[in-house]
Amino acid sequence: MAASEERPGPLTPARTAEDAGAENTLRPRRLPDYFGQETVKESLRIAITAAQRRDDPLDHLLFHGPPGLGKTTLAMIVAAEMGVSIRITSGPAIERAGDLASLLTSLQPGDILFIDEIHRLPLAVEEVLYPAMEDFSVDIILGKGPKARDVRLRLSRFTLVGATTRFALVSQPLRDRFGAAYRLDFYDEEALSSIVRRSAGVIGCAIDPGGVAEIARRARGTARVANRLLHRVRDYAEVMADGVVTAPVARDALAQMQVDELGLDQMDRELLRALVLRFGGGPVGLETIAAAISEEPDTIMDVYEPYLLKLGFLARTPRGRVAMRAAYEHLDLPWEPPAAGSATQAMTAQASLFAAADGAETGPLRPT
Ligand SMILES: Nc1ncnc2c1ncn2[C@@H]1O[C@H](COP(=O)(O)OP(=O)(O)OP(=O)(O)O)[C@@H](O)[C@H]1O
Ligand SMILES: [Mg+2]
Repeated sequence: MAASEERPGPLTPARTAEDAGAENTLRPRRLPDYFGQETVKESLRIAITAAQRRDDPLDHLLFHGPPGLGKTTLAMIVAAEMGVSIRITSGPAIERAGDLASLLTSLQPGDILFIDEIHRLPLAVEEVLYPAMEDFSVDIILGKGPKARDVRLRLSRFTLVGATTRFALVSQPLRDRFGAAYRLDFYDEEALSSIVRRSAGVIGCAIDPGGVAEIARRARGTARVANRLLHRVRDYAEVMADGVVTAPVARDALAQMQVDELGLDQMDRELLRALVLRFGGGPVGLETIAAAISEEPDTIMDVYEPYLLKLGFLARTPRGRVAMRAAYEHLDLPWEPPAAGSATQAMTAQASLFAAADGAETGPLRPT
């Protein structure tokens, strides 16, 4: 279990090498096994049925949201539901425009091209994507030097499915070319319970309802974390108990992993504690906190912060991160209200507005 020795704790929603194998076994293949995300599923169901009735390919789709919520899984399910093949690649894997052009020309009508981390596409590559998405054509240059000439190639009508943890970094021209963008949200306990129950069935783990609930409650609203906790708790149940995951067994296992009641691990607590104890609760810049806890700013932003924001423990303000009262209470640290009229007070008030605005990107970008 090399991954457990790496710095990220057992709860980091980011994908680790350890997940890779388990993830393929546990990935639901069809829509009915994909729990939660009801609004997204409903619009997809409508879009898929309509496209099938018209015998058209599906509109280009963009999935965004924190890691481990099921973007890749959903892309694969869309392909299965449409009955088409899916080619899987990622933004950083496509280095040159030519790589993308050859990928595109190999697609059959209706095929899905899935580009993960689409915000990391090099600009020159992204520019090839615009006419491909819009007119199903690519311009390529044949030959070199003075004899080189431009050739326009027709492509099959394909569907591009993009995924990103950073919607804000997807350029406007690229966003505009998607028929719809869907934001995946953290799962509630009920959906997570269904995920844990299903996964336990797949891996043949004996678990009672108390065990399911305990894992679901502490999974940070994240499907990947729920599955990972289930694996760890099962190991613990087999070695330290009679193999059955009950609530007390799950509690002991999670305590041993230093996962607290809310599902926060050491790293989350270290981040909050640094913010409170070293920076007086903020506001403090992302880079500064990152340096203080020796973590990459990108990892903090993508992996740790989304759930802390969701819990209302942290706020992102124009001047940096601010620890909220709930975080002090969770850490058992004394909290003092920011002085009335102070910058911090104004910013924490504003923070809830920012959190609300975060959800505003959801929904179709273009009516058709
Ligand atoms: N709605 C769901 N129902 C059941 N299982 C799910 C669901 N969503 C995700 N999973 C499980 O969680 C795991 C992680 O999901 P997935 O790889 O699709 O996340 P992701 O959003 O693509 O993450 P990343 O941003 O890191 O690429 C999958 O292996 C799958 O088993
Ligand atoms: Mg993914």
